[in-house]
Amino acid sequence: MPVLSRIKKPIEKEMAEFEAYFGKTMRSGIPLLNIILNYILRRKGKQMRPLLVFLTAKLNGEIAEPTFIAATFIELLHTASLVHDDVVDDANERRGSLSINALWNSKIAVLVGDYLLSKGMLISVEKNRFDMLEIVSEAVKSMSEGELLQLQKSRKLNITEEDYFKIIISKTAALLSACTACGARSVTDNPETIRLMKSLGENIGVAFQIKDDLLDYEGTGLTGKTVGNDIKEKKITLPLIHALEKSEKSTKKHILGIIKNKKKTKDDISEVIKFVSDYGGMEYATLKMNQYRDNAFAIIDSYPDSAVKESLREFISYTTSRKK
Ligand code: IPE
Ligand code: IPE
Ligand code: MG
Ligand code: MG
Repeated sequence: MPVLSRIKKPIEKEMAEFEAYFGKTMRSGIPLLNIILNYILRRKGKQMRPLLVFLTAKLNGEIAEPTFIAATFIELLHTASLVHDDVVDDANERRGSLSINALWNSKIAVLVGDYLLSKGMLISVEKNRFDMLEIVSEAVKSMSEGELLQLQKSRKLNITEEDYFKIIISKTAALLSACTACGARSVTDNPETIRLMKSLGENIGVAFQIKDDLLDYEGTGLTGKTVGNDIKEKKITLPLIHALEKSEKSTKKHILGIIKNKKKTKDDISEVIKFVSDYGGMEYATLKMNQYRDNAFAIIDSYPDSAVKESLREFISYTTSRKK
C-alpha cells in the first residue's frame, strides 16, 4: 500500500467526506473563476494539512464537525498560498501541471488566490469558529511576513542560517502548527494539549520545509515542480547557506555571482547543485531536518499506543523521506 494511503487508514472515512466538502466550496457563479477552480480541484496535492488536522483531532478525542471545518478552510488557505507563491516565485509548474500564472496570468492568479483565501476565512465565520479563525489568521499573517523576509534577504543575498529558520518557521511551520492546533482545538479546550500539538506542528513544519528545499536540489522528478527553481529565483536555502559558509572566499564569490545573474543557464544551475553537494550542504540540511523530525517523534511518543499514533509517526517519517 502506498505510504500516504497507509497513513490515511484510521481516518479514511473522514478524508473522503472532507474531499466532498472541499469540492463543494470550490464553486462560483463567475464562469472564468469556475473554470480555474475546477482546474485546481482536478490537480489535488498530497493533502498533508487536512490529514494532519484529522490525525491530531483523533489523537486527542472524537472527530466532529469543527474538525471538518478546520481541515477545509486550512486546505483552502494552503491552496491560496500556493497560487500566490507561484506568482511570487515566477514558477511555471505546480502539481505536475502549468501553474495558474503560467496558464492564465499573474493578475488572474492574484485574484483567484484572494478568492480562495476569503472563502476559507468565511467558512470559519459562518460556523462561528472564531477561535480557529484566530489561530489561522495568525498563521496567514506569519506566512506573508516570512515570504517578505525571504524576498528582502534574496535581494541582498546575505541570508544567514538564523534568517533561514526565521523564514521557514513563518512561511511554512506556522500553517502546519495551525493544523495541529486546530485539530486539537476541534476536540478539546485543554490549553496544555493545544500548546503541545502546536509545537508538534511547528517541528513537523520546519522539517517539511527543509525537505522541500532539499527536493529542489535532489531532483527526484516527482515533485511536479521545476528542479532548481529556488536557485533560479535567487532563493538561498539551507543546503546552499551551509555550503557557502564552508567554502573559501573566492569560490563563494564565484557561486554568488552565478546566483545573482538573472539569466542562468542549465549549466549554471548544475554547477551550483554540484557545489552544494561537494561542500556537504545536503547532508547538513538533512541532519538539521532530522533534529526537528525527532522532536516531533518525541511529542507523539508521550501518547499511549494506538493506530492514530502509528499513523502520525508514519506521517512524520514521510515528511522527511518523501520524494514529492
Ligand atoms: C508546498 O506544500 C508548499 C510548501 C510549504 C513547501 P505541499 O508540498 O504540501 O503542496 P501540495 O499541496 O502537496 O501540492
Ligand atoms: C512555500 O514556499 C509556499 C508557502 C509557504 C506559501 P516555497 O516557494 O518554498 O514552496 P514551493 O517549493 O514553491 O512549493
Ligand atoms: Mg515561495
Ligand atoms: Mg515557490
